[in-house]
This record gives sequence, C-alpha cells and structure tokens, in this order.
Amino acid sequence: MKGIILAGGSGTRLSPLTKVTSKQLLPIYNKPMIYYPLETLMQGGITEILIITAPDRAGDFLRFLGSGKELGVKFTYEIQDNPEGLPQAFTIGENFIGDDSVALILGDNIFEDDFSEQIKAFKSGGQVFAKKVPDPERFGVIKFNEANVAEKIVEKPKEHLSDYAVTGLYLYDNRVVEAAKNLAKSARGEYEIVDLHNFYLHKGELTVSTVSGAWLDAGTFDSLLAANLLIAKREGSQVLL
Ligand code: TTP
Repeated sequence: MKGIILAGGSGTRLSPLTKVTSKQLLPIYNKPMIYYPLETLMQGGITEILIITAPDRAGDFLRFLGSGKELGVKFTYEIQDNPEGLPQAFTIGENFIGDDSVALILGDNIFEDDFSEQIKAFKSGGQVFAKKVPDPERFGVIKFNEANVAEKIVEKPKEHLSDYAVTGLYLYDNRVVEAAKNLAKSARGEYEIVDLHNFYLHKGELTVSTVSGAWLDAGTFDSLLAANLLIAKREGSQVLL
C-alpha cells in the first residue's frame, strides 16, 4: 500500500499563523504538525509516501522531510495548484499510486491510535475511521442502522444525522483513482471525499472502523492548542498539565 499526505489547502482559519508558513508545518509541541500523520502511515508499514503541497510551500516541506532516507521511507512530492478538494489527491497522485491501493491522511490530522493492524490487513474496497464528536456538523457524518452498519454518509449535514464524524485517514483500493477522475464538483465548488466513500458504500464495499483514542484535526486555534497539549503530555511535559 502507498501513502499520501495531503498538506496543501489555505489554512485560513489559522490566519495570521499561516501567512508565512503552512498549517502542516506549525509546531505541535516539539515537531512540525506533518510529523504526526507521517508517523501514522509509518506505523502501518507504509514506506512510499507522496507529499502534496500548495505551490508556494513545497520547498519548506522538502527542507523538513528531504528524501526520507533517514526515516527509512521514500518521499515523492507533488503540487496541488488550487485547493479544490481532497479527492484531487488521487488524480494528482495517479502515477505515484500506479496499481497499488492507497492510504490518504490529512496533513493536519493527529491520531493517538495505531492503525497498523487495519492498514496491514487491508485488501480491497474502502475503509474509513469514525469518531464520536461533539460537533459532527463540521465533518462528514456517518449514520448507522440498527445493525450498526453504515447506511449513509453526508458532508457537513445541516440536520443532525449522528455524532460520528469521518476522520482524516482513508484506505482505498486502486479503483479510487478512476472514481476520483469521474467526480463532479459539489455546490460549494469542491470535489468531495464523501462522494468517494459513497462510491464504495453503495457497492457494499465500505468498512467503517471506530477510532478509540484521541483524534484532532488541528485546523483551528482551539484544536491546535489541544493538539499541543495532547502531545506535550505524551512526551512527558509538566507545563500546564
Ligand atoms: P481543511 O482544513 O478543510 O482546509 P484548509 O487547510 O484549507 O483550512 P481552512 O478551512 O482553514 O482554510 O483541509 C484539511 C486538510 O486537507 C488540510 O491538511 C489541508 C488539506 N487540503 C489540501 O491539501 N487540499 C485541498 O484541496 C483541501 C480542501 C484540503
């Protein structure tokens, strides 16, 4: 399985912190943010990793991550010209993915869980990871039926559907590349990752696992602070804890 870290985007919610650097390079305690999603992929045994960045920020990522040799992995870099949605990871990454399956992780997502078992056991279809959150309307939301099987996934639903958000780690088989190419933009002018989940859900080939440990999408001031506190605690800091 190949890995992609999507680390472009605008980071407008963290402005002015993101005026001169990328969100994914902001510090989370003692390392730049992107280190944590990278760690999640590496724990899963993924060694070929594509980093997708915004055009003016690629050099910063290259300086931080380099070739990957020191970490025992191989990094490839691509540019996303405009942040038009998460599924673009699979069209930009088409050559990199080749005939393999792929794990996409968002560059601002920090997970406490170790997903190595699920990543190593993945064979085909799609797999997403759900987490119960107090503010599901900010995310893709999964509705389960009485048998606890995913019935529906809706991006930022206006009406309450469930408390389960789809987190920013997605495993897909190779069909995701064609599926991503065939998507149309949504009303908000972006390609939507939820359409890829539904591509597999409608075929009965989407597995939904739950996330048991902490999950933070560090894209707001509060979640950035929470991520810093979580990692500081993990690293043994005594400050404010
Ligand atoms: P978001 O947090 O949804 O978007 P953003 O980073 O542009 O932030 P803001 O809403 O504050 O402007 O993106 C989630 C992650 O995915 C983040 O790591 C950036 C990345 N991303 C891309 O690389 N390209 C894209 O087209 C989008 C939508 C997001």
